[in-house]
Amino acid sequence: MTALEDTFRTRTGEAPYGTWFAPGRVNLIGEHTDYNDGFCMPFALPHRVTVAAGPRKDGQWVITSQNKHETVTVAPADLTPGRPGWSSYAAGVVWALRQAGYDIAGADLVLESDVPVGAGLSSSAALECAVLTALAELNGLDIAGMDRARLARTAENEFVGAPTGLMDQAASTLCTAGHALFFDCRDLTVEQVPFDSATFGVEVLVLDTNTPHSLVDSEYAERRTSCHEAARQLGVTALREVSADGLGDALTALADPLLRKRVRHVVTENERVRQARQALRTGSLDELAPLLDQSHASMRDDFEITVPTVDLAVETARAAGALGARMTGGGFGGCIIALVPAGRTDEVGEEVARAFAEAGYAAPAWFTATPSAGAGRLR
Ligand code: GLA
Repeated sequence: MTALEDTFRTRTGEAPYGTWFAPGRVNLIGEHTDYNDGFCMPFALPHRVTVAAGPRKDGQWVITSQNKHETVTVAPADLTPGRPGWSSYAAGVVWALRQAGYDIAGADLVLESDVPVGAGLSSSAALECAVLTALAELNGLDIAGMDRARLARTAENEFVGAPTGLMDQAASTLCTAGHALFFDCRDLTVEQVPFDSATFGVEVLVLDTNTPHSLVDSEYAERRTSCHEAARQLGVTALREVSADGLGDALTALADPLLRKRVRHVVTENERVRQARQALRTGSLDELAPLLDQSHASMRDDFEITVPTVDLAVETARAAGALGARMTGGGFGGCIIALVPAGRTDEVGEEVARAFAEAGYAAPAWFTATPSAGAGRLR
């Protein structure tokens, strides 16, 4: 019996019906493109939220967080958007399923997470997707993967109130081990692109800059608004419709220099995601690595979502031998990823730690990531 099952049994007096999980993610490339109907290419982390769950007869959802050592009871009357606290991610999933017309019976849920929180690794999407996977099976619902991702995003957008795109929930739900997920955010189609970093002779270093990202919510919303305003001025539904070839004309058509920069990021980033997919297909590190550098420069100079700690981490990683590096996730802190020659990730991490200490920044944390499985049943 796992520790999670043990807690479940102690709390409810019964064995769980099953145990499900959903992972956090890093995004290899394609940032702030999802809500512009563009492309991105995340992969799932081995870090995950695990949920032991079983049915309850009283129509309530009783949710325990092993991490918080807290149990919250949610009755149908409590399913009101804007509810504060960690349990809103789970309650939001119940709400989204019910909004979509599914009959969701009461349940006991015991959650545990090893996805770092506040690091931009989608710990909230992992929680939503894990709960959704558990509730879908408990209630005998057959919901297609992309629809599950969309329901989890509805919980995030409309119940929790964070105006994110679909990338994180799609990654957590649809990724498969050994692959990056090429995701077309307009067609809602995916391609599993084999990504075994060993064949490139590299490892993927994920380094958390441990930067408190207080601006992330307001700045994220501002970028979304700017992109939609630029699309409106260009007469397109979404910036996805501006091709790399059409970028020059689009920039000429926009009077506001800020909107020009935002559009240049999104259009060039979409192009880089396609090129990165091609580089993965052909196994060309020489093509892949510079795309990460270019993506970072674009986020720093055009989309203006990086911060000094993140830029220092990327520069130091590159100087210490990484072949390409970029910030990953929404921005204003969080993690960088770097393609590092196999066996040298700790050396690169330690160089960044030294540079952070010299600059007076908090110590970073790092690990090496391999593309892992998306949501599923564990036991
Ligand atoms: C956050 C959001 C995603 C995506 C990224 C930026 O992770 O949740 O939808 O927009 O930022 O690429």
